[in-house]
Amino acid sequence: MGQEPGKKPVSGRPFHVPVMLEEVVSLFSPIKDGVIVDATLGGGGHTAALLARLDDSVSILGIDRDPAAVDRMFEHGRLRLVVGNFGQLDRILASEGLDEIAGVLLDLGVSSHQLDEGRRGFSYRHEGPLDMRMGPDAARTAHEIVNEASPAELGRIIRSLGEERFARRIAGAIVEHRPIETTARLAEVVRRAIPAATRRSGGHPARRTFQAVRMAVNEELGALSAGLDSGIEALRPGGRCVAIAYHSLEDRIVKRRFRRGEGREPGPVLPVPPPVELTALARRAIKPGKAEVLRNPRARSARLRAVEKVA
Ligand SMILES: C[S@@+](CC[C@H](N)C(=O)[O-])C[C@H]1O[C@@H](n2cnc3c(N)ncnc32)[C@H](O)[C@@H]1O
Repeated sequence: MGQEPGKKPVSGRPFHVPVMLEEVVSLFSPIKDGVIVDATLGGGGHTAALLARLDDSVSILGIDRDPAAVDRMFEHGRLRLVVGNFGQLDRILASEGLDEIAGVLLDLGVSSHQLDEGRRGFSYRHEGPLDMRMGPDAARTAHEIVNEASPAELGRIIRSLGEERFARRIAGAIVEHRPIETTARLAEVVRRAIPAATRRSGGHPARRTFQAVRMAVNEELGALSAGLDSGIEALRPGGRCVAIAYHSLEDRIVKRRFRRGEGREPGPVLPVPPPVELTALARRAIKPGKAEVLRNPRARSARLRAVEKVA
């Protein structure tokens, strides 16, 4: 604790470079008081900028599922920290005594620190054990999914969460080569399962499979739906929700939830249409500018959507 945000290098790299920082600060800048929830604290880059640049009457509740992110966070008089899953945001807000909030930020996925630390097992680029849990609350490790899931479940995970067209072949190869103990071994088994002609295009051949297993381990899409519902529910009128997604499955969930709140997308079938509760702050997803992508290639796939609570 105590070090400045973004200043502590991990293997010579910053913990995480915040994505679309100016856009996030500007979207929250009309908020003059109350609590903004940073539901994905990570390296604290967004939180640090919000604390520095918004009014002194605004405070932040910073949440991360990863105790390592919360442990190394800087201290600030207007920052409260919680280790928790934003999928249970309603319970976290209740235990913090918050009936309403002024804003909520969801900057989804993993931090650079998590990806770069081999022993966390997130990356096909770093040798490590097959873990991939963002926090200790995850029900299964990647090792359990990779080595114990049925071929059908593995295939479903890789197809639906990785949007991988060779899911069945990859699942078959994984089952055939069990036990698989490390990220490097999993990456190699996946690489060999993909036809050579396809391997040459579209980035690392194991990228989609790793994404799928990580999302299954952390039950990321379920947490996102629940977190959006609770966050929007808790927003006061005029409060804002900003979400940054890094792939199409997450972005689709955000887009649909926001549209439903705007009365533009049907929700569950109800006898009367639900009241309009949100207004869009941008008609389409906002993408990072070219200069940002050059500076920080991990921003490349970011899609930011933002809404304001009207009722
Ligand atoms: C992209 S990073 C956020 C970076 C942060 N905005 C910054 O400026 O450094 C995503 C963070 O969200 C956390 N996270 C992902 N899913 C979560 C969840 N369901 N509940 C709480 N934290 C989560 C991850 O552990 C990770 O630290």
